[in-house]
Amino acid sequence: METIVDAQNLRKTYRRSDGPDIEAVKGVDLSIRRGEIFSLLGPNGAGKTTTISMISGLVSPTEGDAVIGGHSITKQPMAAKRLMGFVPQEIALYPELSARQNLLFFGRMYGLGGRKLSRRVDDLLAFLELHERRNDRIDTFSGGMKRRVNIAAGLLHKPQLIYMDEPTVGIDPQSRRRILDTVKQLRDEDGMTVLYTTHLMEEAQELSDRVGIMDHGEIIAMGTHAELTQQVGEEDRLEFTVSGGVADGAPARIQREVAGVTRVLYDAPEQAGAESVEPAAARLTVFARHGRTALPPIIQVLDSAGLVIQSVAVREPDLEAVFLALTGRELRD
Ligand SMILES: Nc1ncnc2c1ncn2[C@@H]1O[C@H](COP(=O)(O)OP(=O)(O)OP(=O)(O)O)[C@@H](O)[C@H]1O
Ligand SMILES: [Mg+2]
Repeated sequence: METIVDAQNLRKTYRRSDGPDIEAVKGVDLSIRRGEIFSLLGPNGAGKTTTISMISGLVSPTEGDAVIGGHSITKQPMAAKRLMGFVPQEIALYPELSARQNLLFFGRMYGLGGRKLSRRVDDLLAFLELHERRNDRIDTFSGGMKRRVNIAAGLLHKPQLIYMDEPTVGIDPQSRRRILDTVKQLRDEDGMTVLYTTHLMEEAQELSDRVGIMDHGEIIAMGTHAELTQQVGEEDRLEFTVSGGVADGAPARIQREVAGVTRVLYDAPEQAGAESVEPAAARLTVFARHGRTALPPIIQVLDSAGLVIQSVAVREPDLEAVFLALTGRELRD
């Protein structure tokens, strides 16, 4: 399949005068195919925005380059930028103008105008279900509505490729649903390529043809959902919350005594002090080949260690499991 974004060895180091340099992105290779939804999934500070900013020409790479539809973003930025739309993480709209006025303004910046532009603006307002509020000032809009105006702005010049940087953070469920559906519609109906970033596994899972998992400035795994979950094998993940702290080497005993268990991760919160009487709940994650079969004997071990189980969840392999397996940390925090 044809490649529309081909980034090689992208690197960004932010120099600091009063501390060590920050290596925000450490040599990322990324190739995105025409017509696919590709998600960058990673926790806060993973380097998603920096990566997107480099391949959209907003930030110049310390090293490496990206070719967009045949044009180098560092050497032919104008030609490359014409192919792309960008929906930034931060809202960039004029609060005192209406939705329609904002879009007309951005359209003129792209060199559009006249009837063609007003028709395009009206189509996009309808597409994003903002038609009824089109003449209201932006400062009367909810966060989700503003986000949708931002998306419309990124689509004005009919780009072949659109970047959306965490477009659903902090908005209401309806707007979120509308945005996720919009992303799929753009691919299915307009054949558009979408590069989407998120720290939410569910979104990456629902939307993407392929996912790149990012952590500490690197893409640590890349592929379809099936390819990625295959990497963690057939293992289920059992998540326990227990109170009483994990005593008596319970994690080691689970691993030793329960068949099929491959790994136990134990995450206890810092205790307030030695005298703390009521220790906070600890989290225990157990990887096992047959989660449901392993459950009763694990409960027995925890029981005999004097622990109170507050919650149990059995999860089949998903992107969260891939992240956990690769980093030893959870995506959520
Ligand atoms: N302009 C900058 N100057 C200095 N450091 C920066 C700058 N922009 C980003 N960083 C640092 O680079 C790292 C990656 O940040 P980036 O914004 O790319 O992460 P992210 O994955 O988009 O995170 P989030 O999910 O919070 O948006 C962080 O450590 C961040 O503090
Ligand atoms: Mg970001």
